[in-house]
Amino acid sequence: SALEKVCIIGSGNWGSAVAKIVGGNVTHHEGFDQKVNMWVFEEQFEGQPLTQIINARHENVKYLPGIRLPSNVHAEPDLARAARDASLLIFVLPHQFIAGACRTLKEHRTIRPGAKAISLVKGLAADETSSGSGPCLVSSLITKSLNGIDVSVLSGANIANEIAEEKFSETTIGYRNRRNGELFYQLFNTPYFQVNIVNDPCGVELCGALKNIVAIGAGMVDGLGLGENTKAAIIRIGLMEMMKFAKQFDSTVRDDTFFESCGIADVITTCAGGRNRRVGEAFVRTGKSFEELEREMLNGQKLQGTSTCQDVCDYLSQRNRGPEFPLFMTIHDICFRGLAPENITKFNRRQTNSK
Ligand code: NAD
Ligand code: 13P
Repeated sequence: SALEKVCIIGSGNWGSAVAKIVGGNVTHHEGFDQKVNMWVFEEQFEGQPLTQIINARHENVKYLPGIRLPSNVHAEPDLARAARDASLLIFVLPHQFIAGACRTLKEHRTIRPGAKAISLVKGLAADETSSGSGPCLVSSLITKSLNGIDVSVLSGANIANEIAEEKFSETTIGYRNRRNGELFYQLFNTPYFQVNIVNDPCGVELCGALKNIVAIGAGMVDGLGLGENTKAAIIRIGLMEMMKFAKQFDSTVRDDTFFESCGIADVITTCAGGRNRRVGEAFVRTGKSFEELEREMLNGQKLQGTSTCQDVCDYLSQRNRGPEFPLFMTIHDICFRGLAPENITKFNRRQTNSK
C-alpha cells in the first residue's frame, strides 16, 4: 500500500514515550498505516513475557510504568517481523545495541524498498567497516548497513518520563533530505512536544552523544557538593568542548545548532535530571563502579555517557588532541584511570602543569 508504515526499534524508557507520541500521530494525520509495530527486546517480567504484558495492558510496566500506550501500538519480540514492510524506521535503542539490530535487519531484508529512517539514539557507534576503527555516527552505521537508507536524527532536551506526562518540551530533527525531515515532523510534533527541523544532521546527532559526557561531570560536581556555580561552569566549558569536538569530527556542523533544543537545552536538562548525572553523583559518593551502579540504580535502563566518553577520549588521544579537551579528558580519567574526582575543577592547572 502507499501508506507509510512505522516500526519503532526499541522500547526502553524513551522508546515507550515515543510510542505514545507516534501511535497517536499516525491516527491524527493522513497517509500513515494506523498499526505501529514496536520491537521489544524480550524479557520476563514477573514471570510473563514483557511483550504479552504490553499488548494486554497497553503499558510498558518495566520501562515506562504508569503511562498508557495507544492500543494501535503492537509489541513484537521478533525484530525482522516487527520491521516487515515498514517504510519508516525509528531507531531508539541504547547505542551499544544498534550494530546488532542493523545486522538482523540486513540479513532478513524485510523493510520496504525506499524506506526512511530516523535515529533517536544518543551515543556513537563503532565503525566496524573502516580498517582504522573508531567511533562513527549511529546514523552512518544505519545507512551503511541498510543499503544507503536516508537517516534523519531527532535529539533534544527530552527526559522521557516528563514527555510521557505531556509536560511541554521542544526537540530538534536534523535532516539530510528536507522532505523526509518534514515527514518525520508530522510523525513526532504535538502541542506538548514541539519539533524544530534543521539541516544539520551531524550537529544534532553529535550534540546528543556528547552532552552525556558533560552530564557525568555535572553529576560528579553534585557528588562533591560543589554547588550551582560550579555546575554552571562545567556546563559552559562542556558546551564549548562539545562544539569544538563536533566541528573537528565533521566540518559541516553549524554553530547555531548548539542553540537548538538538542544543544544547550539538552545539556541543561540532562545535567539537572538525567540518568548520567544521577550515576555520576553516585560514583563519587559510593566509589562503586559504573557497571555496578547501572545495575543497582537503573532497573535495566542503560547509561550512555561512560562508553561515549571512552570512545571520544580514545579518539582524541590517538590523535594527540587530548590537551585541547581538558574537561572531557578529566572526566575520562576520573571514570577510567582512578583520578580523584576533586580534579573535576582542577583541569586547567593540570593542563598547565603537564606542559
Ligand atoms: P533504556 O535505557 O530505558 O532501556 C534499555 C533498553 O535496552 C530496554 O528496552 C532493554 O530491553 C533493551 N535491551 C537490553 N539488552 C538488549 C539487547 N541485547 N539488544 C537490544 N536491546 C536490549 O532505553 P531508552 O531510554 O529508550 O534509550 C534509548 C536511546 O534513547 C538511548 O540512546 C538514550 O540516550 C536515548 N534517549 C533517552 C531518553 C530518556 O529520557 N530515557 C531521552 C532521550 C534520548
Ligand atoms: P540520560 O540518559 O542521562 O537520562 O539523559 C536523557 C536525555 O537524553 C534527556 O534529553
